[in-house]
Amino acid sequence: MKSAKPYIAQHKDRFIDELISLLKIPSISADKAYAKDVIRTADVIKSSLEKAGCDAVEICETPGYPIVYGEKIIDPTLPTILVYGHYDVQPPDPIELWDSPPFEPVIKKTELHPQGAIFARGSCDDKGQMYMHVKAMEYMTTTGQLPCNVKFMIEGEEEVGSESLGWFVERNQEKLSNDVILISDTGMIANDIPSITTGLRGLSYVEVEVTGPNRDLHSGLYGGAVANPINVLTKMIASLTDENNHITIPGFYDDVEELSEVERAKMAQAPFSKEAYCKSIGIEDTYGEATYTTNERNSIRPTLDVNGIWGGYTGEGAKTVIASQAFAKISMRLVPDQDWKKITTLFKDHFQSIAPKGVTVKVHPHHGGQAYVTPIDSIGYKAASKAYKSTFGKTPIPQRSGGSIPIVALFEKELKSKTILMGFGLDSDAIHSPNEHFGVWNYLKGIETIPQFYHYFTQMSR
Ligand code: BES
Ligand code: MN
Ligand code: MN
Repeated sequence: MKSAKPYIAQHKDRFIDELISLLKIPSISADKAYAKDVIRTADVIKSSLEKAGCDAVEICETPGYPIVYGEKIIDPTLPTILVYGHYDVQPPDPIELWDSPPFEPVIKKTELHPQGAIFARGSCDDKGQMYMHVKAMEYMTTTGQLPCNVKFMIEGEEEVGSESLGWFVERNQEKLSNDVILISDTGMIANDIPSITTGLRGLSYVEVEVTGPNRDLHSGLYGGAVANPINVLTKMIASLTDENNHITIPGFYDDVEELSEVERAKMAQAPFSKEAYCKSIGIEDTYGEATYTTNERNSIRPTLDVNGIWGGYTGEGAKTVIASQAFAKISMRLVPDQDWKKITTLFKDHFQSIAPKGVTVKVHPHHGGQAYVTPIDSIGYKAASKAYKSTFGKTPIPQRSGGSIPIVALFEKELKSKTILMGFGLDSDAIHSPNEHFGVWNYLKGIETIPQFYHYFTQMSR
């Protein structure tokens, strides 16, 4: 495969403009008010795949948002790569913390992106990274270099749990059959330290509700004599971790895969500066489970975090009141071989069992998914490694990530193939946060690297 660099240099401005127009559509899957925009985005992806040379591009209807599917089969005896990505984005709030409107993309230089970064919701997660694949496809088809078969499957519900995609995959195993799944929806260590994501954490997400008195009460008249749901909820949450930051739910760690000292020593070789880490997010020191390093805490160890908590009076001034109810949203990041449904049940049983007299507790499970690890001796991993070597000049480091793409474990179960995670974002790109951005250099480097993966994967599959 010839280097895509000259082609990219020639079409760079158009590649950026096309991504910018995609980023202008607020495809927020979590908010029904944006349903039309989500659907419109699917149409834009469909025509972009057609222009990039895919045959038989379709909008596949599901019980939820549509899945865009396209393929190009050049020879059934050649390998097939299935590309997955998502066109939905996270809600942009808190909107007042954005320096420019989330759906009006602008390019600005930053310390880590001296060539500029595109600021917009979804620029890195995942429209920008997904669109690299569309442009890489365009390069290979227009220059007559596509070396194998390709299938694209781009969904619109990743940020809300991929329920419809699960439904679609279970019903279309034949159509989706492939030799490897390729995803760019993760990150890398730094622009001069390429890495390949070899693991994703699982997830169990629950909402809890603590109810005390049947109405809000005067905190003087009743205070001290009744259980205050907010006091109770915060005590219950605090008891879920001990002084070593171990999670106290009985059975929580039973199935956790423990890494050997050799594996941990290997992980510790990845470049990491605790000082830079702290500085980048404005903290004095890190915090977490005793006896584990920061990189272990955020990748190979499970967690329990409150994502939101509310109840009572939060308006201006002071109101003396004991609220009738208190609520929290809690996420547990899971590792191999924890089962997310089992963990959800353990949480529910434990949380209800620690409720004191005077309140009732309800636990509502949301979505979840299994953790995933991919081996580094597969053809897919080796091909990805060579691809990075050819465009970055360095062999990439395997690295397990703390984030989750729950559908990946399901892909392996239903489609029986491994996933290769070639992410080109940086942790500092602020995905899910205000001022999300994606480096122009990263975007173009992705477009350059992806065709090399196609080449090596095809060559090594022979
Ligand atoms: N692309 C992210 C996941 C990710 C980001 C993994 C960076 C590794 C590195 C994905 O869109 C995401 O946000 N996933 C959610 C889970 C989902 C069920 C809402 C997450 O990790 O919180
Ligand atoms: Mn994503
Ligand atoms: Mn996301």
